[in-house]
Amino acid sequence: MKTIQKAGTGTYRATRRIACWAAGAPAARTSAGMTKVAACIACHGEDGNSTIPDNPILAGQSARYIYLQLKDYKEGRRLNPIMSAIASGMGKQDMWDLANYFSSKKQKPNGFKADADKVTRGKKVADDALCPMCHLGGFSGQNEVPRVAGQHQAYIYKQLMAFKTKERNNYADMNAYIKNIPEADIEALSHYIANLN
Ligand code: HEC
Ligand code: HEC
Repeated sequence: MKTIQKAGTGTYRATRRIACWAAGAPAARTSAGMTKVAACIACHGEDGNSTIPDNPILAGQSARYIYLQLKDYKEGRRLNPIMSAIASGMGKQDMWDLANYFSSKKQKPNGFKADADKVTRGKKVADDALCPMCHLGGFSGQNEVPRVAGQHQAYIYKQLMAFKTKERNNYADMNAYIKNIPEADIEALSHYIANLN
């Protein structure tokens, strides 16, 4: 399965990271991360808890997923005018520092008022479509599979639609799993997942 291939690559990357970080003092690493974070907080929030529904919450997200997204923006596999420009200037160490910083923060409730019927329907759609096979029950995520639980509803909806239309195509399995799900069910999925705080 493709996930396993990606997981293998991730392990290789993680191993290299440890070798690389062992050279620096812990205090220096933290302050390096803190300086870089200043460029993110206006949109993603000081501790990664964005309060703007279009901007994803990064707090508590898997570090490997954050790293891979920054790399994908930089290398043109994922396109967004803002993020592609921001990532274009980043080196590998910057990406890992930022990924580890935001991953270590605690995710806060998103404040979204979900529609109860959509939540019920969304759970059924998710289970029927086997989403938990990768994202785990409750969409808590694992390794390079993102945590989506409690993410902003508007952002979740936008990303699922982008995978459906292949506007976002940096992971072919997501295109495949969402392809046959109608828009109304994608709306229901986004309510269900955003409500998983
Ligand atoms: C001007 C606002 C803005 C700034 C500044 C910004 N971002 Fe973003 N970021 C966004 C938006 C909007 C998206 C969603 C883009 C999309 O739809 O692909 C995003 C997406 C991301 C994602 C993908 C998250 C996911 O769940 O897939 C990561 C990771 C990220 N940003 C990290 C950063 C980091 C690290 C910084 C600072 C170096 C930063 N961003 C600065 C607005 C911003
Ligand atoms: C085969 C494993 C797999 C399955 C099944 C799967 N996903 Fe994913 N999903 C992923 C991976 C891996 C990513 C990250 C892709 C990347 O690197 O950009 C992802 C990304 C996402 C994102 C974007 C998150 C973000 O922060 O931008 C959402 C939302 C999502 N999945 C929801 C779903 C839903 C809903 C289903 C069921 C219909 C589903 N996924 C099924 C593996 C899977």
